[in-house]
Amino acid sequence: MKTRVLTGITTTGTPHLGNYVGAIRPAVAASRRDDVDAFYFMADYHALIKSDNPDRIERSRLEIAATWLAAGLDPQKVTFYRQSDIPEIPELTWFLTCVTAKGLLNRAHAYKASVDKNTEAGEDPDAGVTAGLYMYPVLMAADILAFNANKVPVGRDQIQHIEMARDIAQRFNHIYGREFFVLPEVVIEEQVATLPGLDGRKMSKSYDNTIPLFAGGQKHLREAIMRIVTDSRLPGEAKDPDSSSLFTIFRAFASEAESNAFREALVNGLGWGEAKQVLFERLEVEIAPMRESYDALIARPAMIEEILHEGARKARAIAGPKVAELRDAIGLRSGTSVAPQANAPKAVAKGGKAPRFASFRDADGSFRFRLFSSEGEELLLSRSFADPKAAGVVQKRIKELGSVGAVVQVQPQALVLEIDGEQVGATPDYDGEQARDEALLRLRGALDQLAAQE
Ligand code: TRP
Repeated sequence: MKTRVLTGITTTGTPHLGNYVGAIRPAVAASRRDDVDAFYFMADYHALIKSDNPDRIERSRLEIAATWLAAGLDPQKVTFYRQSDIPEIPELTWFLTCVTAKGLLNRAHAYKASVDKNTEAGEDPDAGVTAGLYMYPVLMAADILAFNANKVPVGRDQIQHIEMARDIAQRFNHIYGREFFVLPEVVIEEQVATLPGLDGRKMSKSYDNTIPLFAGGQKHLREAIMRIVTDSRLPGEAKDPDSSSLFTIFRAFASEAESNAFREALVNGLGWGEAKQVLFERLEVEIAPMRESYDALIARPAMIEEILHEGARKARAIAGPKVAELRDAIGLRSGTSVAPQANAPKAVAKGGKAPRFASFRDADGSFRFRLFSSEGEELLLSRSFADPKAAGVVQKRIKELGSVGAVVQVQPQALVLEIDGEQVGATPDYDGEQARDEALLRLRGALDQLAAQE
């Protein structure tokens, strides 16, 4: 069983060295593991809460996408997409909003911090607070729950949001009486380094002490490194590596042997100017090749767009059926699955053919059926039933529900059909994800045709 790991990157700002070491590099490494099914996305709806500058948002989306791809994210292996390309996310956000206690959101750290600040300043508690900031945790819960994510790697400041996502999921499950949602677990990467910035405090945009990763090219990287604050020890004087951000940054990129050699050189009096040059050259070993692909990607935004569209398609193949299942569960069934009027015209495929079931008795004596498309393609093989009546009931139910009420679980090579929370059959194995996704469309089409005939 693969673990589904999901995380979002808010698209404000330009990635810096601290983002790379603390988030991007470990995430790319995790995505390569065979037991991980990674979902990484750009949280551009969340970005709107922080910024109302369209150019900045647009630029940041592009830079962040290019950065992750240049850092080695393989969009074939990972599902890499933009939040705003997935309409199921805002739809689910509303479903979740309607089961979320307002009091829960009152307790969110980010919102509370704004209220506290206003109160201290003697202002109205909600001055300058948008409903977007208030709803932030629900949108984030939808990001996670739409994909049944098992693990969510985030920074410490986000732990509360994952706890809220669990709360909201549990509440929804409880109200609607079924385990619709997997409860996500937070993952905090303890062993990942937090990089110090130019002034020695944690590298962060809010301290204005960052070292850019790719932006501005080699020149900017060099200039930033030369601005790292050091003490006033002269060349020849022994330096203390452990109190030097320069050394901490070096260590985040170098092997243990390299770090030891650098440590020794500092203790033996290497001048800060030279030490900065050593750091710069070491960083370039890792960064220069990535920067090259970054520049190539940034120069071809259409290619990035293409990759993200493909990611959105993969993501929606999962979120779509999920949200359809939820719509059904909460009473928002679409017309096709509600009992049709008696005089409704029967929908028949071109050429008068329609999808059909074929029942048969299996070698072990059990009863099964297949679903064939109007073209005669086998779309589904049912599980075994002990008696023909049980098999018939399921066929009837499939016809009643159509594609809107059916839940299709997407597996690497096949699709599993779920009706009323129970697996009722599976497709043949397909050759690759694309063939599978195309088959999903044919299966949904056939289910809708069946429902329209009823
Ligand atoms: N709020 C997260 C942050 O600022 C970004 C984010 C949005 C996210 N949706 C998410 C992270 C879902 C994990 C899962 O860091």
